[in-house]
Amino acid sequence: MRRPRSETLPPGGVEALPERDLAARLAEAHGHTLWLVEPVCDEALDRVHDTLLSPLAWDLGHIAAFADLWISRASGREGLRPELFEVYDAEETPRAERGDLPYLRCAEARTYLADVHERALEGLEHADLSNPDDPLNAGGFVWEMLVEHEHQHNETMLQTLQIAPPGTLRREPEHPPVHGARHAQGEMVAVEGGPFLMGAGPEAGFSYDNERPQHEVHVPAFEIDRAPVSNGAYLEFVEEGGYSRPEWWSEQGWAWRRASGTERPGYWGADGRVRAFDRTEELRAELPVMHVSFFEAEAYARSRGKRLPTEAEWEKAATWDADAVAKRTWPWGEERPSPGRVTLDQRSMGPAVAGGLPGGASAYGVLGLIGDAWEWTTNELRGYPGFRAFPYREYSETHFGKGYRVLRGGSWATRSDAVRSTFRSWDLPERRQIFVGFRCAA
Ligand code: AVJ
Ligand code: FE
Repeated sequence: MRRPRSETLPPGGVEALPERDLAARLAEAHGHTLWLVEPVCDEALDRVHDTLLSPLAWDLGHIAAFADLWISRASGREGLRPELFEVYDAEETPRAERGDLPYLRCAEARTYLADVHERALEGLEHADLSNPDDPLNAGGFVWEMLVEHEHQHNETMLQTLQIAPPGTLRREPEHPPVHGARHAQGEMVAVEGGPFLMGAGPEAGFSYDNERPQHEVHVPAFEIDRAPVSNGAYLEFVEEGGYSRPEWWSEQGWAWRRASGTERPGYWGADGRVRAFDRTEELRAELPVMHVSFFEAEAYARSRGKRLPTEAEWEKAATWDADAVAKRTWPWGEERPSPGRVTLDQRSMGPAVAGGLPGGASAYGVLGLIGDAWEWTTNELRGYPGFRAFPYREYSETHFGKGYRVLRGGSWATRSDAVRSTFRSWDLPERRQIFVGFRCAA
């Protein structure tokens, strides 16, 4: 349940204790959450900006309450504020209703978050992570889950900040996304038919229940786009009348298009300019297209005589090394993600050029799989054969078979501990607030 320790070696070469690694990552996660909302005024944190998303103050209190609950379970102590657990239970109160709840408003939520963070560090210090009969603590499971949960909410918070009126978040990129050579749009890579190992193995470190168990899947030969579909390629589809040609859409997709009146990706204006947070700029053709629904992605693919990849195809193209007959942890190998390979972690305020990071190539030469923009796949979210919910059904099992499509790979707005090659996110096919694009298969 531990990740490779290479970056956490203290001077002298003695291996850091996992407790110390986790403490540093809990602190980093907490610091990042504070950084994220630091320039946002309290009034904007308390407001419901869109019924798709929670008020940001709700996210803050929820991160704290989720941690409070699991710290209390893992350490056998009472929670700091157990009376809040129900208020922040995501299942009990759908996002649209969260604005009306007695949840903590901004200042109180910040205090709770800080108090729970202290408690997490304390709890971790006293936890025994080596007892296999204590599955919540073994290998640091719950503590790692707290980091990943906070990271996941950091991305939904950025979705909220983007959907909010321009100016809610004013922030310059800390560094522009790096990129190297580009590849021709639409160029495809062939992947031979045959078996590969899908999902997270026991050696892979932390994984969610829905990534397990690892199992062999036979994938027939297919082709997959070397790079994600770019704004420029997608614009051609728009200009070819893509939004008025039902033959390119699925029946459900066309019904959605008509009912919603959608004519272009989210945040694209009719004047050809695109808004991102407080900036409105000319469309940049070389960036991956984002904020398209599953239906739009599907229609684009069909217009090109292609289709969307299955999850198994995506993961095989991302992780399988056919020469070594082995699964890689990341598309490029075993090293942790770093700039030059991926764009993650919210500091760039946008994605890199589609297919512009050669260091992120998989064994098959597929680019841009991790980071930049999530990618739609055709699969509905379901459990793998032999799935067992752990440690709570509401993380994923309660969402199985309800029409959610699986998203893979993460975006520039994904925190680095909230994505893996085997990580499965999901949303409804009509959703566009996500930093999501796609690539085609054939
Ligand atoms: C994995 C992003 C679909 O936001 O619904 C956060 C993550 N689960 N808290 C979601 C999650 C519980 C989840 N997604
Ligand atoms: Fe949550």
